[in-house]
Amino acid sequence: MRELEERIKNDGQVLGEDVLKVDNFLNHQVDPQLMYHMGEEFHRLFQDKKITKILTVESSGIAPAVMAGLIFQVPVVFARKHKSLTLKNDLYTAKVYSFTKKVSNEISISKKFLSSDDHVLIIDDFLANGQAVQGLMEIIDAADATLEGVGIVIEKTFQKGRQLLDENGVEVQSLARIKAFENGQVVFVDEDQD
Ligand code: G4P
Ligand code: NA
Ligand code: NA
Repeated sequence: MRELEERIKNDGQVLGEDVLKVDNFLNHQVDPQLMYHMGEEFHRLFQDKKITKILTVESSGIAPAVMAGLIFQVPVVFARKHKSLTLKNDLYTAKVYSFTKKVSNEISISKKFLSSDDHVLIIDDFLANGQAVQGLMEIIDAADATLEGVGIVIEKTFQKGRQLLDENGVEVQSLARIKAFENGQVVFVDEDQD
């Protein structure tokens, strides 16, 4: 998605070896217009699927997920990372290991918001090692719902997530695909052909 790639080039900051800071339009301050265009793009990419629900994880997945939900006209559910006071047996839970932070967190979704009738599109801000998406997939399995695809705002193809999802036969569509960071600059997949 050209508009997103331009924005990453202009406003993204490469931190160290493998992290892109995009806190002025996605991870802290949010650009609603850009988010809306992302929602339209996710809809274009998955319009042949019968989607009944969009799942994401708090917090940064929520903005793009809600915009996609607006265009698809389906509800959006975000998995919570913090334990709620609700009884555990009302929740689907999964463990998500963060390689970045080297901690394991639990994500959960209330059973009342996901059923075996649901056809789910997962949306998330980053695809790095794929652990968040895998956690959501475990929850979708537990609910006996159907995963239709995964939509990612920014994919880093040099980390393990894409391969993991490909091996599981999951359709993944990313709006921007970064193949490397070189001298503090972002290099997109297929950039040479543009
Ligand atoms: P994974 O789900 O692909 O395995 O991701 P990983 O554990 O590597 O990343 C943990 C957190 O860091 C996630 O956010 C993920 O979205 C984010 N992340 C991964 N790579 C990048 C990057 O290059 N830039 C930025 N800005 N974030 C990245 P989170 O902890 O769930 O936080 P949030 O959703 O509240 O923002
Ligand atoms: Na994030
Ligand atoms: Na995230």
